Amino acid sequence: MENKKVYIETLGCQMNKSDAERMYGMLEHIGYTQTQEPKEADLLIINTCSIRQLSEDKAYSQIGVWGKWRGKSRGKSRGKSENISCDKSNYKNLGEADRKNLYPKIVVSGCVAQQAGEKIFKRAPYVDLVLGTQRLYELPSLVKRIENGERIVSVDEKPFKESEIQINRVKSVNAWVPIMEGCNNFCTYCIVPYTRGRERSRKPELIIAEIKKALSEGFKEITLLGQNVDSYGKDLDNGQNLAWLLKQINAIEGKFRIRFVTNYPTDITDEVIDTVIELDKVCEYFHIPMQSGDDYILKKMNRRYDYATYKRICDHIRSRIKDVTITSDFIAGFPGETEEQFQNTLNAMTELELDYSNTAAYSPREKTVAAKWTDLYIPEDVKTERLARLNEHNRECCLKSNQKYIGQEMEVLVENFEIRKNGNKVITGRTRNNKIVHIPYEKDITGEFINVKITNAKTWYLNGELI
Ligand code: SAH
Ligand code: SF4
Ligand code: F3S
Repeated sequence: MENKKVYIETLGCQMNKSDAERMYGMLEHIGYTQTQEPKEADLLIINTCSIRQLSEDKAYSQIGVWGKWRGKSRGKSRGKSENISCDKSNYKNLGEADRKNLYPKIVVSGCVAQQAGEKIFKRAPYVDLVLGTQRLYELPSLVKRIENGERIVSVDEKPFKESEIQINRVKSVNAWVPIMEGCNNFCTYCIVPYTRGRERSRKPELIIAEIKKALSEGFKEITLLGQNVDSYGKDLDNGQNLAWLLKQINAIEGKFRIRFVTNYPTDITDEVIDTVIELDKVCEYFHIPMQSGDDYILKKMNRRYDYATYKRICDHIRSRIKDVTITSDFIAGFPGETEEQFQNTLNAMTELELDYSNTAAYSPREKTVAAKWTDLYIPEDVKTERLARLNEHNRECCLKSNQKYIGQEMEVLVENFEIRKNGNKVITGRTRNNKIVHIPYEKDITGEFINVKITNAKTWYLNGELI
């Protein structure tokens, strides 16, 4: 088959985005080119997220739309008239020979796939492959089999061996590089330990090789990814840890930046804080999800710290690192959360002067402990209202945080150039501490490091001028 096309729709976190870049790379090896147009794809992949019910619903509705496109010819020539209805009964009795001729092939990957497995076929019988998160590297061989009409579920928790592959990265200045995957924490609200399995570190040689390759392709910023980057190395033989890894990466020649996400509050070591202070490439930025500012709720969430401990960590980092950005995640309306307990979250955000927070209303997830506390569920309207207040608080914190930098000189890595509707030419980039800055400039200098003076601050970004 010539000139096959693949389209991947990615939902969820950076880990999923990174997985998509790997899938594109692997599929190129077996003759697929990437398309931005789902309608002309022979292979459609939905790379799913199940962190909240809404993300899961989005995945199923997308699969439903794609199911309606199934027909007996490939790509652009697919005619409406011969499309097969995505009615469940139509698919039940199809054999391999029939399925072989049906296009587009549909793959469900990511966290919903891992969690729902075979159940996906019941809901969406036109799906050809359910690919679990730990079987990513099995994709090429499985795609060859679905091309022949097979229907496959591969969600084994035994990770499929990572192969040396080319990665088709999204064109940008930042390259995402996973260093570990999985989580052992089992916070009572969270599905991730069930969808990404136990913590596993990637071998340092693979990580370093991947980073060198990305740098040679022109990437200027490396963001190390993991559900808990502080756990890096715990399962390796030689006492390697995150601080050690940061040192190896910092030693690679050339000008570039290094970031890492996500940190678990109580797992951040002084050694890691030292690397941020001492290593020129490691940026002054920590993402440390707090989830709630209330001790009782934190306990119920099975987080291993109380407010005072989180505050101590935050104060310690701020006292040691000038201009450090600390961002967080919060959940509004966890089962049993009282108004007073919610207030503690708002107060925490303000007191700690958090620079930015991701916020979400609690969403019950199957299998998790908290989902069983149905009698403690907070009504939807209360959750929505708390989330709105949390967001308003977040906006105030962001503006306050940004205002700190007015008049300051900062290094910006340029990420984008645009000519606005009014004709103004503007470049956009990020400071080392992850603030977005807009700067008037005549031409596209994406990928360059420039020095900028901050002239004013908005809620979500700074304005600056070249110096
Ligand atoms: N490993 C990171 C977070 C991964 S999940 C950590 O330890 O914090 C990303 C964020 O999604 C979480 O920080 C949490 O705020 C949010 N989240 C997870 N499960 C959720 C749920 N059931 N409902 C609402 N938000 C949730
Ligand atoms: Fe989820 Fe908690 Fe693990 Fe983060 S640490 S991924 S919130 S279980
Ligand atoms: Fe979603 Fe899975 Fe990431 S549940 S947030 S895609 S780890």
